[in-house]
Amino acid sequence: MDQIVVRGGQRLKGRIPISGAKNAALTLLPCALLTDEPLTLRNLPRLADVDGFGHLLNQLGCSTTIEGSRPEDFGRVMTARATTLTSTVAPYDIVRKMRASILVLGPLLARAGEATVSLPGGCAIGNRPIDLHLKALEAFGAEIELASGYVKASAPGGRLAGGKFTFPVVSVGATENAVMAAVLAKGTCVLENAAREPEIVDLCNCLVAMGAQIDGIGSETLTIEGVDRLHGATYRVMADRIEAGSYACAAVITEGDVELVGAKAAEMEATLAALREAGATVEEVKGGIRVAMSGRAQPVTLSTSPYPGFATDMQAQFMAMATLGTGASLFTETIFENRYMHVPELARMGCDIDVRGRSAVVRGVDALVGAPVMATDLRASMSLIIAGLAARGETQVNRVYHLDRGYERLEEKLQAVGADIERISAG
Ligand code: UD1
Repeated sequence: MDQIVVRGGQRLKGRIPISGAKNAALTLLPCALLTDEPLTLRNLPRLADVDGFGHLLNQLGCSTTIEGSRPEDFGRVMTARATTLTSTVAPYDIVRKMRASILVLGPLLARAGEATVSLPGGCAIGNRPIDLHLKALEAFGAEIELASGYVKASAPGGRLAGGKFTFPVVSVGATENAVMAAVLAKGTCVLENAAREPEIVDLCNCLVAMGAQIDGIGSETLTIEGVDRLHGATYRVMADRIEAGSYACAAVITEGDVELVGAKAAEMEATLAALREAGATVEEVKGGIRVAMSGRAQPVTLSTSPYPGFATDMQAQFMAMATLGTGASLFTETIFENRYMHVPELARMGCDIDVRGRSAVVRGVDALVGAPVMATDLRASMSLIIAGLAARGETQVNRVYHLDRGYERLEEKLQAVGADIERISAG
């Protein structure tokens, strides 16, 4: 298995191009199932999860073609076309490897009137049930059965009737599935306490470009007037605010000065506020955001919450940054129950972190020391890279496939701003 080796101590300086957002890509791709016309997505990141989603679309009868992008370019253009669906089944083997496969449930149900999708099972950062996905679809008229580890959903008469659902807790994925199911309903669908993440705005904007009628985009109440059919569209995937925030943390811990090219400040205010709390200079510049730091990070107090709050997907990276802070930082994780798996790995590098239930106290230490560490999930892996960039000596990050799921050519982007980092291929 590949390994990433980082030798710490280099100040990051320069421009880092920010790729298309993984989490937006994974909800835009299934939109192709909603129409028989082509959906062309620009700025799709080159990631293992995006490739995996392409294969799932192929299994359902949706063709995918990648257009003329040169290997040296970031991002790709993909056209997906589901002229006719040949299957409405997302099998266990695919869903278990890529949780986001569950996002074909809503579009298949909307287009074909039925869908059979494997339950994703547990995952590294908690139980992650899908009950809210199913309840929202039921509220719109779907009939749902669970059998042999699969969800079988059908729409009586072939089309969802419409209805109203109030989410008891905010869920990104359930909001996405419900919106994609609703756009072809016979009637009106209303979602209350819907997630408002920028990726959901991106999804809604793409669906509107395909002919959907959605009111309240960006708010917690979405009203979707079903239409008889959607058409094709060309849509550009938004910039990855989590990738941008991750490189910002890397800049701060190395006392660097980077420009996150393509990042949009309006989509990551909570992250930028947290960087400022740590003492970083953060400014919007033409076409991106500049993050610069001199001296050690000041302590931060951060609690994760749904957008526009501080993202759970940024927690591990900020924690890595805080390990070299000037005092004690306090983290509270309110979204996932098992999202401190980076802590024992960071401890191997000399960090002082005390986890008590959902909270963690990070006491800044004077130095980190490189060590062999193991990536456990995507963002946890990035926290190890960030710590490694500032540690003395060499850090070897194993299980790199986690990083390949979510960071497009990580080592190349970091090398270009001065990091001493390389991938050692297992051959
Ligand atoms: C998405 C993101 C992930 C991010 C998370 C929270 C993608 C591909 N993934 O994951 O990177 O960390 O949002 O911002 O976009 N819940 C239920 N029942 C459900 C669904 C969710 O109880 O049916 C709970 C979850 O266990 C969790 C909370 O709701 O505690 C939020 O999860 P959710 O927003 O659904 O996360 P994902 O969509 O899986």
